[in-house]
Amino acid sequence: CVNLYHRHFLKLLDYSPEEIRYLLALAANLKKAKYAGDEPRHLQGKNIALIFEKTSTRTRCAFEVAAFDQGAQVTYLGPTGSQIGIKESMKDTARVLGKMYDAIEYRGYGQQIVEELARYAGVPVWNGLTDEFHPTQILADLMTMQEHAGGKALNQIKFAYLGDARNNMGNSLMVGAAKMGMDIRLVSPKSFQPREALVAQCRAVAKDTGAAITLTEHIDEGVAGVDFLYTDVWVSMGEPKNTWAERVALMTPYQVNMAVVAATGNPQVKFMHCLPAFHDEQTVIGREIEQTYGLKGLEVSDEVFESRHSIVFDEAENRMHTIKAVMVATLGVPGGLYV
Ligand code: CP
Ligand code: NVA
Repeated sequence: CVNLYHRHFLKLLDYSPEEIRYLLALAANLKKAKYAGDEPRHLQGKNIALIFEKTSTRTRCAFEVAAFDQGAQVTYLGPTGSQIGIKESMKDTARVLGKMYDAIEYRGYGQQIVEELARYAGVPVWNGLTDEFHPTQILADLMTMQEHAGGKALNQIKFAYLGDARNNMGNSLMVGAAKMGMDIRLVSPKSFQPREALVAQCRAVAKDTGAAITLTEHIDEGVAGVDFLYTDVWVSMGEPKNTWAERVALMTPYQVNMAVVAATGNPQVKFMHCLPAFHDEQTVIGREIEQTYGLKGLEVSDEVFESRHSIVFDEAENRMHTIKAVMVATLGVPGGLYV
């Protein structure tokens, strides 16, 4: 039995492959139990603070539904409406919330902020996305890949991540792939490849797990034979608006469209995206992109997004089951839980 009781969940680099496998197995059990209507409640009487310095749909809803399913209560602290950052430091906030709550989720800017929150809170802290990492998303992605890989184990899976490979998603997918012994290709312009220090850390992990990590600018080489194509937005939350024009110019060749799907040579290839995605003009920013650049989609074409290849909504659902697993494992049962 793996015991994660009272551990923080700040980045996947802090977790061993065995611990990640345990969280995935727990998530699968919790998902099955929810579908069967006999979910055990491990978080009754717990109070959880959800800090969101950036906006969210999936992550917030996943934490709330998971908490309610498990019998816990939550308080949502949005980008405005608390003292955080304006009148009160994270160190002080941590010590206040730690006295009232049993655990804290944090979404915001630098990774050092969530690390500081964890240092002073005295209760488990969960990272709901920082500029550098998005670890709960990766758990959902690994679970989704396992479900859609036709019986392949994670270490038999090949996937390509196209676009901004030095954002939180590129970084975290590389860490997740390294930990689970997968074949990952980060396909991006050179200036958007992950930072050297993190690549070196992941390569060191890969030595033990048998993972293959390829950084390439060449799309055909990167996507050949993969089981999954993955992409994310080209400009992330918190990045300035004046980066759009340069990013669009540089990354347009890396759009996941039907030509890229064909280049995999795998008619069963699946498409993944953490969401939200720019694939049409149905949003405020989507309309702005259309007016400014004359493009109807950015990182993924609408055709691929809506195609039989796309598993993005199964992936979104799994955010809830995997986040629930993190909550139950770190807060639910002293001594750990058998899966
Ligand atoms: N994937 C993800 O984190 O989505 P939200 O920004 O809606 O939480
Ligand atoms: N890279 C994106 C991920 C959103 C879930 C962002 O940080 O905005």
